[in-house]
Amino acid sequence: MSMMNPDISLSSGIPDTEPERQYYYIEMARRHVASRSKEMGRPLTFCVTTFGCQMNARDSEKLRGILERIGYEEAAEDKADFVIYNTCTVRENANTRVYGRLGQLKPLKQKSPYMMIGLCGCMMQEPEVVERLKKSYRFVDLIFGTHNIYKLAELIVSRFESGSMVIDIWEDTDKIVEDLPNERKYAFKSGVNIMFGCNNFCSYCIVPYVRGRERSRAPEAIIREIRQLVADGVTEVMLLGQNVNSYGKTLDTPITFAALLEEIEKIEGLERIRFMTSHPKDLSDELIEVMGRSRKICRHLHLPVQSGSTDILKKMNRHYTKEQYLELVRKIRLAVPDISLTTDIIVGFPGETEEDFQETLDVVHKVRYDSAFTFLYSKRSGTPAAAMEDQVPEDVVKDRFDRLLGEVQKIAREVCAVHEGSIQRALVESVSEHDSTLVTGRLSNNLLVHFPGTEEMIGTYADVRLEECRGFYYIGSLEAGR
Ligand code: SAH
Ligand code: SF4
Ligand code: F3S
Repeated sequence: MSMMNPDISLSSGIPDTEPERQYYYIEMARRHVASRSKEMGRPLTFCVTTFGCQMNARDSEKLRGILERIGYEEAAEDKADFVIYNTCTVRENANTRVYGRLGQLKPLKQKSPYMMIGLCGCMMQEPEVVERLKKSYRFVDLIFGTHNIYKLAELIVSRFESGSMVIDIWEDTDKIVEDLPNERKYAFKSGVNIMFGCNNFCSYCIVPYVRGRERSRAPEAIIREIRQLVADGVTEVMLLGQNVNSYGKTLDTPITFAALLEEIEKIEGLERIRFMTSHPKDLSDELIEVMGRSRKICRHLHLPVQSGSTDILKKMNRHYTKEQYLELVRKIRLAVPDISLTTDIIVGFPGETEEDFQETLDVVHKVRYDSAFTFLYSKRSGTPAAAMEDQVPEDVVKDRFDRLLGEVQKIAREVCAVHEGSIQRALVESVSEHDSTLVTGRLSNNLLVHFPGTEEMIGTYADVRLEECRGFYYIGSLEAGR
């Protein structure tokens, strides 16, 4: 599952181009790890824990790929010599969890002098966080951000050689480093970054500040990566970006997301294409058309609405109205009638009135989402919304949140029940966690089905009859395999 190993000669000094430079440092780090491992009489182990979204999950696979190349073996967190937290800061509770977990690591680290702790990801891009770590969490070894994860080997070498805390945070980057190792969680499916960063500056959101400006990968690099993944056994890809619908706009030779999808569709051996996230403001008719005729794009669209109130949407800087959103949904359903729609909703944005909230409920009733992620508004310092005056009291927000969740869940159950009795194709992902006689498969519409099967079926497709809807998943039976 690893990628190419460019030919580097260690005698010729440190390469100044990437990824060659990193392969050089991987070799150096390997020697440090080997010598420590000899000293300890056992292999060194690592654990990468991911917080946050699929972007972070994909970044963690890159970290794992580098760590394995360096000679570390993966282990559970409480047995790991090197613990890395890949952090998220989209809502306050994400940060709180990281500080809590760090507190628990401290005594472990005091017991084992060779243990190392690394922190990276979105939270590290916030200067106040790094200040707090420097002051109160001196036992952390390595701090880096979202723009330089590809440098992990180089940073590890600095840590081994300096013997003290290493901090490397970049404010932004225009660089995309290709062809580094990565270690996928699943053999048969993979995330693929198509772009990094975000330029939208929704007024509540910290992501543009911690992930930097939008940059698209060259289509050739994306296609090459997917071809390699397919050759390696992958049949389903998830194209990742904060706003995939604006993919390609900043490239020297601009290309649309829809055109990219059509190129990816041609890759032989690839069965399923997913993508996230789609911003409603940039979802084009061309994309709807491509989705309508595609045989590989999954029947699922995650289309975050955030709020149903046009006033609030304006204050959120989302650039669409309630009516425009509903019109988009109508057009998508016309082109792809069996599509499953999911969304993100924020409750309690500053200034949200009961009337605004009713507009959100109205959208939920009209669209009838297959599922919705609902969030309590979280104030992120530095964002425009944090400075808005009319923050909504906590108890009001909580009450709205509970009402919304009730509606969302009721509708999701009804929507799920519609497919009962149908036969659908599932990609088997795992043996069911609760019952080892069952396997868990993912349907094109992103819902899960549990049905009788064995471990050998993992990574294969099966036609499954959806016998019974259990709210958010199905119990099924095997119709035919292949
Ligand atoms: N780029 C994606 C979303 C990234 S963040 C998009 O535009 O859809 C994932 C979700 O977190 C967002 O859709 C939003 O619903 C939620 N979110 C972001 N900032 C938030 C905040 N300050 N408080 C509560 N939820 C937030
Ligand atoms: Fe945040 Fe908006 Fe960018 Fe999504 S599109 S990451 S919500 S700023
Ligand atoms: Fe969190 Fe960063 Fe993703 S803030 S949601 S991990 S882009």
